[in-house]
Amino acid sequence: MSQPWSPSSWRAKPIQQQPQYPDAAHLSTVEQTLASYPPLVFAGEARELRRQFAEVTQGRAFLLQGGDCAESFAEFSAAKIRDTFKVLLQMAIVMTFAAGSPVVKVGRMAGQFAKPRSANDETIDGVTLPAYRGDIVNGIGFDATSRVPDPERLLQAYHQSTASLNLLRAFAQGGFADLHQVHKWNLEFIENSALGEKYNQLADRIDETLAFMRACGMDTSPQLRETSFFTAHEALLLNYEQAFVRRDSLTGGDYACSAHMLWIGDRTRQVDGAHVEFLRGVGNPIGVKCGPSMSSEDLIRLIDILNPDNDPGRLNLIVRMGADKVEAGLPRLLRTVKEEGRHVLWSSDPMHGNTIKASSGYKTRDFAQILAEVKQFFQVHEAEGTYAGGIHIEMTGQNVTECIGGSRPITEDGLSDRYHTHCDPRMNADQSLELAFLIAETLKQVRR
Ligand code: PEP
Ligand code: CO
Repeated sequence: MSQPWSPSSWRAKPIQQQPQYPDAAHLSTVEQTLASYPPLVFAGEARELRRQFAEVTQGRAFLLQGGDCAESFAEFSAAKIRDTFKVLLQMAIVMTFAAGSPVVKVGRMAGQFAKPRSANDETIDGVTLPAYRGDIVNGIGFDATSRVPDPERLLQAYHQSTASLNLLRAFAQGGFADLHQVHKWNLEFIENSALGEKYNQLADRIDETLAFMRACGMDTSPQLRETSFFTAHEALLLNYEQAFVRRDSLTGGDYACSAHMLWIGDRTRQVDGAHVEFLRGVGNPIGVKCGPSMSSEDLIRLIDILNPDNDPGRLNLIVRMGADKVEAGLPRLLRTVKEEGRHVLWSSDPMHGNTIKASSGYKTRDFAQILAEVKQFFQVHEAEGTYAGGIHIEMTGQNVTECIGGSRPITEDGLSDRYHTHCDPRMNADQSLELAFLIAETLKQVRR
């Protein structure tokens, strides 16, 4: 029998990756303020995403999750949100049109601020300071004052998330995502590239199809004019997450209303830990990152705890093993889950197992490794007779130089040109589109 759950029952469990706030009373006041604020999302929306996840789990759709590794307070603008949204729309339309698969779109946006770190401290030139844990916790500047965790940052993260979500909702439903605008989603800086050209050809075909539908009087469906878009972030900072638990008046269930989907990171997925405890009690769709150290036994225990009803829309297992480890590590997980008859959505995060350090010192990822991990993810699923349901990527609509390689190759020397990330290296629009075309090709074969 499991112990009773409450929004605060995580507090009695061992917890990893948390900041040490110097002023506990200040933190508590901020938590109360957040709890009195309106939620960001409504429980019914989280249930709708569960319904869409169930479609993916059953092989009838594909899940695209993407956005920043870490959002930041400094890089917060309408243009930045719009451009990331545009690239996600482009990727989704490439997959939908080329592969004939509906695509569920989830942004790592409007709340992706807290970061797990591999070390508690950072040392530069003999000076040691607490690690940067994301703008919701402390400042990225390497000085003692910036690195002190400040509860006021939770409020700023909330306000930035509400403004971001407001704009995303407007874009999704206010005409921007209208399929008749498909040419306008191309970003200027990729317009003249080979990928931009390939995208434009696909957009031409969509235009033709729409013209045909209009001529037949068939273009009145609202699905052509608007789209649904959901948000997700890592539920790392539980003081923040607890403040947004709301009881749904329609079903009586508790929902984490800071985003539609929340996920548990690879460093905080301990079966007896606070993060698993918190997420087991909320009704949202939940992600769990599965790194190379995930054992089949732990995975089944996690599924038991997080999805006791075996609901196909509840659990998104986000595999992030690294291109050289998928072939060895994934089949055993797929087999166990299949043998046990558990319904889960399998998605691939080809980013977090492929982080390397360039000789110049920049943290980067090789686009070839990212593609290789995705390809292997599909191949292993095919061999095991399971469904590769989605991807989870770090990308941006800005023309950054953070991951090496791609069709307009970024070299190690070029990394310094536009390296802006606050945490991990992201794919730019070119690289993201290239990945989308590859997935579309693969999906087309799977769905044949
Ligand atoms: C992340 O998604 O940014 C992240 C830290 O991932 P993981 O928990 O898989 O390392
Ligand atoms: Co990351």
